[in-house]
Amino acid sequence: MVATSTETIRLQLRSWPEVEEYLSRCKGVIVPLGSTEQHGPTGAIGTDALTAEAVALEVGRRTGVLVTPAQAFGMAEHHLGFAGTMSLQPATLLAVIHDVVLSLARHGFERIYVINGHGGNIATTKAAFAQAYGTAASRGLPNAAALRCKLANWFMAPEAMQLARELYADREGHHATPSEIAITLHLEPSLASKQRPLPEAAPAGPIHSPEDFRRRHPDGRMGSDPFLASAEHGARFLDVAATALVADLERFLNEPNS
Ligand code: NI
Repeated sequence: MVATSTETIRLQLRSWPEVEEYLSRCKGVIVPLGSTEQHGPTGAIGTDALTAEAVALEVGRRTGVLVTPAQAFGMAEHHLGFAGTMSLQPATLLAVIHDVVLSLARHGFERIYVINGHGGNIATTKAAFAQAYGTAASRGLPNAAALRCKLANWFMAPEAMQLARELYADREGHHATPSEIAITLHLEPSLASKQRPLPEAAPAGPIHSPEDFRRRHPDGRMGSDPFLASAEHGARFLDVAATALVADLERFLNEPNS
């Protein structure tokens, strides 16, 4: 794998002959998956999509692996009590990921690496992979047996969790966390103007309906203190998450088919 520029690894900026040529050298592709949902009273609605795409582009830049456009809508049903949230139902997200995987597999991609920024997407994404394997086989795709999908949640990379512990301890919390907000501050300096001290957040708890979520978490946060975030921290999170995922991706690309 060779380090390259952001322009080179964005599928959106490639032509089809270039993609065909790429496939003769590499069967791997990165799909950033986010969510468009409230991130507390001071965080950007696009946090999960912005962070997933940034980590994906950094991993792509370091490895030369193509990065598809980000899927910016995720499964965020429980955040619908807050203005600006746009959610796909689990069945819709499942269908979207399934169709994305099948499109890529049809062209010969065999290692689909989804870099995810939102915990609410995990169960549905894994279900979509299971369904995609079945469809690839039933459609008789020539590479069906070689198709592998992997979900990589950047915020759960041990190195990223360790850094969050060092910087924020238990004020990292579970939603609208300072680690993810830090990356958005690094990417988009204008977001710093929203930062202000906040009262202690409601602790994490069970997730039910949107109304119940808003009642339990009136300002949208779960146990987090996003005021602790800084752009400088964000650059560090981006670096450690990308480093961890580059190693994971390279293992994934080198996995034998049988
Ligand atoms: Ni988030």
